[in-house]
Amino acid sequence: MAECQLGALQVLYLSENKLNGTFPESLGRLAELVALFLDQNFLEGVISEERFANFTKLKILDLSQNQLILNLTSDWIPPFQLQGLVISSYKLGPRFTAWLRMLKNVSHLDISSTGISDTIPDWFWRSFSQIWYFDISSNGITGSVPDLTNFINLGYFNLRSNHFEGPLPNFNSLRLWLLDLSNNSFSGAVHLDIGKSMPDLEYLSLSTNNLSGEILLSRCHLRYGALDLSKNLLLGELPDCWNHSSLIIVMDFSSNNLSGSVSPSICSLGFLESLHLSNNNLSGELPSSLKSCERLNTLDLGQNRFTGKIPTWIGGSLLSLKILRLRSNKLVRNIPPNLSRLKALQILDLISNNLSGTIPSSFGNLTAMKVSGEMNGTILKNYTHCNENIQVTIKGIYIEYAILLPLVIIMDLSNNNLSGMIPEELISLFGLMSLNLSENHLTGEITEKIGALQQLESLDLSRNNLFGGIPSSMTNLTFLSYLNLSYNNLSGKVPSGNQFQTFIDSSIYAGNPDLCGFPLSQKCIDEGTIQGPNAIGGDEENDNAMDDGSEMEWLYMGMGLRFAVGFWIVFGHYYSIENREEPIFNI
Ligand SMILES: *[C@@H]1O[C@H](CO)[C@@H](O)[C@H](O)[C@H]1NC(C)=O
Ligand SMILES: *[C@@H]1O[C@H](CO)[C@@H](O)[C@H](O)[C@H]1NC(C)=O
Ligand SMILES: *[C@@H]1O[C@H](CO)[C@@H](O)[C@H](O)[C@H]1NC(C)=O
Ligand SMILES: *[C@@H]1O[C@H](CO)[C@@H](O)[C@H](O)[C@H]1NC(C)=O
Ligand SMILES: *[C@@H]1O[C@H](CO)[C@@H](O)[C@H](O)[C@H]1NC(C)=O
Ligand SMILES: *[C@@H]1O[C@H](CO)[C@@H](O)[C@H](O)[C@H]1NC(C)=O
Ligand SMILES: *[C@@H]1O[C@H](CO)[C@@H](O)[C@H](O)[C@H]1NC(C)=O
Ligand SMILES: *[C@@H]1O[C@H](CO)[C@@H](O)[C@H](O)[C@H]1NC(C)=O
Ligand SMILES: *[C@@H]1O[C@H](CO)[C@@H](O)[C@H](O)[C@H]1NC(C)=O
Ligand SMILES: *[C@@H]1O[C@H](CO)[C@@H](O)[C@H](O)[C@H]1NC(C)=O
Repeated sequence: MAECQLGALQVLYLSENKLNGTFPESLGRLAELVALFLDQNFLEGVISEERFANFTKLKILDLSQNQLILNLTSDWIPPFQLQGLVISSYKLGPRFTAWLRMLKNVSHLDISSTGISDTIPDWFWRSFSQIWYFDISSNGITGSVPDLTNFINLGYFNLRSNHFEGPLPNFNSLRLWLLDLSNNSFSGAVHLDIGKSMPDLEYLSLSTNNLSGEILLSRCHLRYGALDLSKNLLLGELPDCWNHSSLIIVMDFSSNNLSGSVSPSICSLGFLESLHLSNNNLSGELPSSLKSCERLNTLDLGQNRFTGKIPTWIGGSLLSLKILRLRSNKLVRNIPPNLSRLKALQILDLISNNLSGTIPSSFGNLTAMKVSGEMNGTILKNYTHCNENIQVTIKGIYIEYAILLPLVIIMDLSNNNLSGMIPEELISLFGLMSLNLSENHLTGEITEKIGALQQLESLDLSRNNLFGGIPSSMTNLTFLSYLNLSYNNLSGKVPSGNQFQTFIDSSIYAGNPDLCGFPLSQKCIDEGTIQGPNAIGGDEENDNAMDDGSEMEWLYMGMGLRFAVGFWIVFGHYYSIENREEPIFNI
């Protein structure tokens, strides 16, 4: 950086550049500086206390997202009275930083991911009662949170991923728009006065705590955005006080112990796009009230006790669906052919029900499954701050998949009572990455045309009544890394070439007594072909052909969506803008 001749400079805004090297020494002379933004650069080295000595007028300091090290002793007396301090991802811990106590007038404090694993000292909550933006997420902070009803300016409050315990605090801020207490150990009941004391709340996550009892919301009102109470121990019925005035987009009550049916009023939420109710104790038939949720792109009712048929109004009305997950319920009878009207559908998960009849040939018309996942774009627009996940089984592994990524294309009808042939129309679903039809009563031959499913990475047809040969065109499926054809009545020679050489675990062909050739010990006698190089490795020395890590390339596990908040200065005072950035993937 050039020598600074700008002694009167008040605001220096260098965010999101490519500055590298150490903290510029000449900056230390800018004694008039009010705001310094160096965030999102490549600065490195150590900043010591002395560097800040001239900054007596500084009000805003944003150093986040650099590789700098702050070397500040805990009894440091800062020369400034900051209003905004953003030092996320710096190493401050493990003890609580005592000099923070000197910053009596801070309204924007972000000390997320700073390695603090201490109990919060009493002075902390006393000092910051005027705060507006408060982010201490991703530390290891312990202790309980006191009553916060005197924090009347609170707008953004993020305690995510710490070790807080005890009951949920009370809030009373008309300005509160984001409240994230997820991934802690809060316990006790959920009783939130959202409508009255936090009318502007847009995002509420209490996910992954130990909250119990029934959900007591004074009103089911969120101005906009996402409501996430997943992964707790909540009981009783879903709240049923939804109405048009709330603009909720994502609702997640999954992995609790809720019972009863789906609240009839839920579709009065005219903007609802994502409804996650999986892994509860919900029962009854799928309620037809859901048919007016026409904007839904994710409907996850899996792992409950729903009964009856898959209703035809799903294919009739929910035409925006991208994910339909009904796995592990008690659904019976036929799969309605009109599900093929879901032109955007990319994940169809009907695993472990008692569905019978044939696979509808109309499934060849599932348009979004005809192109690769990337071409369909991501599922949710990035406007809810929501860390939305869906569980899928892929290559035999059950994982959480982050919905913000371009979606995979999966059809999984396994473990039902389906019969008849595999409709040839499925061969036109060129985008399919994973097809699981195992544990049914499907019959007929595997079509030679299967070689057309070029995106296929995982194919499980095991435990059916398929017969005939394994089509040689399958050697054309060059992405295929998981295959299981066991327990059918297939016969003839296992194809060789390409990735079939890597399928060395003979269990994938087991239970087909008439199959022969590598990797089976049974040699093909009547073909006169010599099993040249294939003969080696016929034993099962290393059967980890599927552990090649390739699933990691397209299934980013545990992805966290982060969004940053930037400051803008307008004539000496500042306001902040929610700067909804690209998600950052932490794999
Ligand atoms: C503070 O300003 C004085 C006067 O410009 C200068 O001599 C000194 O080096 C500055 N201190 C720092 C840490 O830059
Ligand atoms: C505290 O901040 C407010 C504005 O947020 C300002 O008006 C006031 O002067 C500041 N007080 C001190 C002691 O800096
Ligand atoms: C939850 O918090 C723990 C630390 O308390 C962290 O290791 C883990 O990654 C967090 N999980 C999520 C999903 O953020
Ligand atoms: C879930 O709720 C049912 C009653 O609805 C109860 O029998 C069961 O013990 C609960 N399970 C857990 C894990 O709390
Ligand atoms: C697929 O869609 C086309 C055009 O919309 C229609 O003519 C055809 O009957 C459909 N196929 C099936 C099997 O439903
Ligand atoms: C296919 O489905 C069955 C039954 O649901 C399951 O056990 C198996 O792991 C699945 N296969 C793959 C490759 O995911
Ligand atoms: C499976 O489906 C057949 C008809 O396709 C039916 O006769 C049989 O009862 C079903 N089995 C079960 C366990 O529901
Ligand atoms: C394999 O793919 C090539 C081109 O991609 C095609 O020409 C060939 O016919 C295919 N082979 C089989 C057996 O499907
Ligand atoms: C398997 O197929 C052979 C003919 O390919 C047939 O004779 C036999 O009955 C079939 N076995 C079963 C269990 O379906
Ligand atoms: C293939 O499927 C069979 C039957 O479900 C199972 O026993 C076997 O472990 C599977 N093989 C692999 C490699 O997953």
